[in-house]
Amino acid sequence: MENKYQGLEPLLRVDNLSINFGGLKAVDNVSLKVYPGEIVGLIGPNGAGKTTVFNLLTGVYEPSEGSITIDGKEMPKKIKPHEVVKLGLARTFQNIRLFKQLTVLENVMVAFNQEMKTNIFQSALRTRKFYKEEEYYKNKALEILSIFDLAIYASEQAQNLPYGKQRKLEIARAMATNPKVLLLDEPAAGMNPTETHELMEMIEYIRKNYKIAILLIEHDMSLVMNICEYITVLEYGAPIAAGSPEEIANNQRVIQAYLGSED
Ligand SMILES: Nc1ncnc2c1ncn2[C@@H]1O[C@H](COP(=O)(O)OP(=O)(O)O)[C@@H](O)[C@H]1O
Ligand SMILES: [Mg+2]
Repeated sequence: MENKYQGLEPLLRVDNLSINFGGLKAVDNVSLKVYPGEIVGLIGPNGAGKTTVFNLLTGVYEPSEGSITIDGKEMPKKIKPHEVVKLGLARTFQNIRLFKQLTVLENVMVAFNQEMKTNIFQSALRTRKFYKEEEYYKNKALEILSIFDLAIYASEQAQNLPYGKQRKLEIARAMATNPKVLLLDEPAAGMNPTETHELMEMIEYIRKNYKIAILLIEHDMSLVMNICEYITVLEYGAPIAAGSPEEIANNQRVIQAYLGSED
């Protein structure tokens, strides 16, 4: 396992990342690497700091300490979430964030907003260039929906999709930004076993076909153990274990952290 990525540069590299909220060290000296085509799990009890790591990675918070490197380029300390997308980071959220009233297709097209060259003035005038560009992005969005078996829902309002499909749509939208690094925050939360299985296939498909780095926060242990090659465990903001799924499953410290027991 160590040898597999030897000589390769990680697409995502986090070194000694920390943030304090008042007296609380929400993230405490976290380091990790994710290689192209790798899925790394980030797990830990509620409040361990997992989502805060994502918020640091995506410019929501500025780190107190540490650095983040995307594909060999160190991220500036102060960066806005939309600039992070341009660096190649895309994420989904613990709670679904879709434009409920927009169609499935429009939800993906929104992801192209940064890319769209036509300015507001042109779109107000509905120039020929505007229509051409809209057509181009519409087709691009449809293509992405097809890849993830969502094209049949293209003209449905996002809020009318079954829950599992809404979750998949969020991931499809993240993929529309053509990321180098995909951050998934509890994608299986609230899913039934069939939906979870479908989700697992989707993530596996992305891993195989896009060769991007995937960092996965997830409470569903069977999903994490099945799909991740490597797992980092946080407790009270700090890494308490890292290793293969097997190593993590047998780690006494990890078991204690989850059970919250003394022995
Ligand atoms: N903006 C914030 N201000 C103060 N405390 C925060 C903030 N965001 C998160 N926290 C705290 O940081 C800790 C880690 O939270 P979080 O990253 O959401 O945990 P997890 O995702 O692992 O459940 C929690 O104690 C939470 O209350
Ligand atoms: Mg969280």
